[in-house]
Amino acid sequence: MAASIIDGRAVAKEVRAEVAGEVEAFRKAHGYPPGLAVIIAGDDPASRVYVSSKKKMCENLGIHSEEYAMPASTGQEELIATIRNLNNDKRIHGVLVQLPLPNHLDEGEVLETIDPRKDVDGFHPVSVGNFVVGKEAFVPCTPLGIMRLIKKTGMEIKGKRAVVVGRSNIVGKPVAMLLLAQHATVTICHSRTVDLPGVCREADILVAAIGRPEMLDGSYIKPGAVVIDVGVNEVGRTEEGKRILVGDVKFDEAKEIASHITPVPGGVGPMTIAMLMRSTMDAAWRAVGKGGCGCSCKS
Ligand code: GUN
Repeated sequence: MAASIIDGRAVAKEVRAEVAGEVEAFRKAHGYPPGLAVIIAGDDPASRVYVSSKKKMCENLGIHSEEYAMPASTGQEELIATIRNLNNDKRIHGVLVQLPLPNHLDEGEVLETIDPRKDVDGFHPVSVGNFVVGKEAFVPCTPLGIMRLIKKTGMEIKGKRAVVVGRSNIVGKPVAMLLLAQHATVTICHSRTVDLPGVCREADILVAAIGRPEMLDGSYIKPGAVVIDVGVNEVGRTEEGKRILVGDVKFDEAKEIASHITPVPGGVGPMTIAMLMRSTMDAAWRAVGKGGCGCSCKS
């Protein structure tokens, strides 16, 4: 039987509805809305698209948003000073610097300047450390979205074998830690893993985040597995100039073997910005002393 398709657009809509309700409650209680500041340096076209989507989503949910579009020539000091101002701005609960930064800027120093209490991306080393040791911390948004999608399948994570292909700081490592926190037995694979298909075939939960178009074919999939495809790979353009996107998984083969699978597009993609809204809301609750954490415990 073909796998159920996990509808990321529908789940993202649920998250947005949940956050919109909380934004309203927060505004009523405090007289001002949660606020998110997004800084972008340079004119990378993909980054511009992401930043305008984040801004639009804030507007839709009633979150105050500020965009700081800085030229590619921006100096390190100017960028750092902008972040420090936002760290001290009471109306701003989340501060995010869109990556990648122009090459001359020091990404590590920039990320470490963000106040960890406002680090809604979860990229600050303090956030990473707190998260790994199980303390309250912001967690990167794509992994949070992946956990929501897995939960949505109804599969119990506890005791399952999870295999994550890819070891990036934004997706692979944090999603592995989230799965571990939910008591999965987790393996992280990468380009030098020996017998990658064999390791993947052991996975009850398979997360593909390697950025290689359709690399994981049917031979990588265990029958009944939940397959989460994080890949967004452009493999061409239609005659009208629209991007043709495929994931890291060969969808048509995998869907005949898996129990649940995310499509590309329409799977993990829509979850990332929805979870950013979730984390911004959590940052605002925390700023007024009301619990809430960026992890998946509430999902
Ligand atoms: N660039 C690609 N993904 C992300 C993300 O999740 N956050 C930021 N800040 N930059 C990115």
